[in-house]
Amino acid sequence: MKNRLLIACFLLASLGLLAQDLPKDFLTSDFHKERRDVLRKKMPANSVAVFFANPVRNRANDVDYVYHQDPNFYYLTGYKEPHAVLLIFKEKQSAPAGGPYNEIIFIQPRDAMAEMWTGRRLGVEGVKEKVAINQVFNNTEFEDYNLDFSKFDKVLFYDFFNDVRNTKVKGDLYDLIAWFKQKVNYPNETDLELEPQVNNLDMEALDPIMDDMRGIKTSEELDLLKKAIDISCIAQTEVMKAMKPGMSEMEIQGLHEFIFKKYQSEYEGYPSIVGAGHNGCILHYIENYKPQVDSDEMILMDLGAEYHGYTADVTRTIPVDGEFSKEERAIYDLVYKAQQAAIEACKPGMNLRKDLDTDIARRIINEGLVELGIINDVNEKHLYYPHGLGHHIGLDVHDKGKRDALQENMVITIEPGIYIPEGSDCAKKWWGIAVRIEDDILITKDGYELLSDKAPRKSDEIEAMMKQPSIFDNFSLPSLGTE
Ligand code: GLY
Ligand code: MN
Ligand code: MN
Repeated sequence: MKNRLLIACFLLASLGLLAQDLPKDFLTSDFHKERRDVLRKKMPANSVAVFFANPVRNRANDVDYVYHQDPNFYYLTGYKEPHAVLLIFKEKQSAPAGGPYNEIIFIQPRDAMAEMWTGRRLGVEGVKEKVAINQVFNNTEFEDYNLDFSKFDKVLFYDFFNDVRNTKVKGDLYDLIAWFKQKVNYPNETDLELEPQVNNLDMEALDPIMDDMRGIKTSEELDLLKKAIDISCIAQTEVMKAMKPGMSEMEIQGLHEFIFKKYQSEYEGYPSIVGAGHNGCILHYIENYKPQVDSDEMILMDLGAEYHGYTADVTRTIPVDGEFSKEERAIYDLVYKAQQAAIEACKPGMNLRKDLDTDIARRIINEGLVELGIINDVNEKHLYYPHGLGHHIGLDVHDKGKRDALQENMVITIEPGIYIPEGSDCAKKWWGIAVRIEDDILITKDGYELLSDKAPRKSDEIEAMMKQPSIFDNFSLPSLGTE
């Protein structure tokens, strides 16, 4: 027993966070604290907002999916560990011991053995220091924490999906949710069906508040987002130079992702989409399995680096052999024309769906498709442009944010596309052509800033870039001898 204790002490000491091991440009605790203060201002009188950390998801047997914190939780705390619950109070509460407080967090405890396997934990002291909340407790203490939820006019939270595993570790997310439900008298399923708004529970109000807040980026967020976008654009540009017929879709994906990692981008913001020829017609094609891309096709590459939580979303579509064919160029330039017109119209007050998509991008695409003889009439229903023009980006690739009028410091994508699958009701020469051009736009006080202009967008610029030498030109690896 004594030995185990000694080993545990040694492990905990050796697992201490070493400042020199960490990047220096994470969001600061002041950022997260200020976000909590803004949320508190937007909450109704006599209310508490409750946020749970994301669940750990099992991939198979002993392997879990890489953990990803719930973006609202991360936004408000910077805390990246699971099995935690955060409570933010509109008004000051009095602590059983100590002074008044208006926020409290329950987190997973430190555990030398667990940390040896799965990594460092901040623990209570670490959270006090790094998250700058002073009421911090181990998650096991939430069960008996004495808080009378019936005294609030509103208890705000996101409703549950009932898809969390019970790990048998006391205080895990499953327990936190179960204890919370007990504390607030959460109704059972049938009560909810009969009467969705029971007692003081409000499962609707938080979402529009978070939309309001997360949709408008602060300068700290913009710094990270711009970095993610720059990295993604550098990767797109390097791949333009490196592209050769005969490469595999997966290899091309790997070149992008290598460059992401070279710049310390931790993850991809979403599974990378690299589709050659007709694979580009599958909007979220993520198999990337084609072993050899052909010289007579285009390749659609939709990839976003995630940097310290913030994700870019940039798509380029390029000809594999470096030159657009006549038909490819016609479709490419039409998508570009629609995109450029929508980008130039970006400013506060514009509506993404109506003003920019329906009235500008979709109209230009339909007129162009008529001119090319692909459809007969501008009002013809078709599936050649089957998705919306854009969305917010941020901590999520499809980020939270209001969807009516654009406002200063929103960051959105503008991403029209034309996809003509095999067998489409038009001349065969168009079949298999798929183009999406996707850029990331900051809405400014009276216009916009194109954040993703480091990667060429025009067809001529792409062809010129593809003629440049590549750092990967002399990159070769041994054959496996099985081809
Ligand atoms: N990459 C997903 C999207 O463009 O929305
Ligand atoms: Mn997008
Ligand atoms: Mn995309």
